[in-house]
Amino acid sequence: MKKSHSQWSSRMGFMLAAAGSAVGLGNIWKFPYMAGEMGGSAFVLTYLLFMFLIGLPILVLEWLIGRRGQKNPIHTMEDVAVSEGRSKLWKWVGMIGVLGSFLILSFYSVIGGWATDYIFLAIKGTFNGVDGAGTGQIFSNFLGNVNSLLIWHTVFMAANTLIVALGVGAGLERSCKVMMPGLGILLLVLVGYAAYVSGPSFGEAFNFLFTPNLSALNGTAILAALGHAFFSLSLGMGIMMAYGSYLGKDVNLLSTARTVVILDVIVAMLSGMAIFPLVFANGLEAGSGPGLIFVTLPIAFGNMAGGTILGCLFFIFLTFAALTSSISLLEPTVELLEEKTHMGRKTATVVSSILIWALGIACILSFNEWSNVKLFDKNIFDLLDYLTSKIMLPVTGLGTVVFGAWMMNQKRIREELKLNEFWFSIWTVLSRFIVPIAVILILIYGFI
Ligand code: PFF
Repeated sequence: MKKSHSQWSSRMGFMLAAAGSAVGLGNIWKFPYMAGEMGGSAFVLTYLLFMFLIGLPILVLEWLIGRRGQKNPIHTMEDVAVSEGRSKLWKWVGMIGVLGSFLILSFYSVIGGWATDYIFLAIKGTFNGVDGAGTGQIFSNFLGNVNSLLIWHTVFMAANTLIVALGVGAGLERSCKVMMPGLGILLLVLVGYAAYVSGPSFGEAFNFLFTPNLSALNGTAILAALGHAFFSLSLGMGIMMAYGSYLGKDVNLLSTARTVVILDVIVAMLSGMAIFPLVFANGLEAGSGPGLIFVTLPIAFGNMAGGTILGCLFFIFLTFAALTSSISLLEPTVELLEEKTHMGRKTATVVSSILIWALGIACILSFNEWSNVKLFDKNIFDLLDYLTSKIMLPVTGLGTVVFGAWMMNQKRIREELKLNEFWFSIWTVLSRFIVPIAVILILIYGFI
């Protein structure tokens, strides 16, 4: 087997790439609509707690295991398991992870394609003066148009292929070094603009997201927040393990993870503060679900001063965020093919992309021609989403944390994380008990 010797060129580059993976559609598309549906602040505060208590330890363990193995997630798990005197079967954790990232990318790219197309719809002034029925119609026409969905999915996958083929340093790292600061600036402009045009609704949005209202907290919201903390940090997909395999010994895992979690949380919160003021100022429905960004928000863009430019900036922002995540979804498959076959990096990227692209076509058809094709009462798109985020992701996450906390030498982990007695005991309680139990709960919740 060939071994990939690439490494991130700096801690900063690695951190931006990891944050790029974490910050994505989950922060901008999913988080606001989930918060809207689940009563705002109660959901937000629970999510915040889980990001640090549950997400952070798993993130650290994925990097730590990846750095030990220095290979794709499957062979990393196998090698590390053998070196710890454990069964080779642990490689299944890596296997489900790689398969999961492959499957997620097939539909993630379709949604990335929507975001890209919406940039052009905004530029063309398609949303000018429309009402809810109008944007609903635009969106359903769009979903019914196989050709345009296919074109944008193809464009989006091609962009992924170009970046990932360039390699870890010149592709993943460099593109995130450009896109992540760009994303930060766009986001600040969007929030500033929302504050400027929406007047008192800005305060209303702030209260909606941050004033504690624990009466709205129920089991569903708690478990959804937990699941989302997972998705949002790109955990349980072999991604962070693959990113860890390119990591040098000198990088401090805990402090880097803390920064990535904080960045991810800030983007989710600011996205909420860019979106909800517009929703409230225009008298729109906060709990409108997955259509919030593609159906509800365009009404606001179409009916406010400067809406064309704001809409355009918003969808550029969404596309960038989706792209920095989707390249990370491609990486585990590419790393596997590159190391296990004689393909070079470029061929491995093209082959992986074509396979994922083809599966994406099935997702596209599930919105129109194949909308009646159902398994377990779900179309292909919903089925892939369900299978990956509700089952594969927690299973891999559980495998990772059980392996890291129960199968590996804890003394070495303590040294590697540079923890004193006190913090190590907290780490132990979290990683051995609290995190696995929380993940088992997410799994059970997924089934019911
Ligand atoms: N973390 C990304 C987001 O929040 O959009 C999505 C994601 C990327 C999920 C990679 C899972 C994953 F493995």
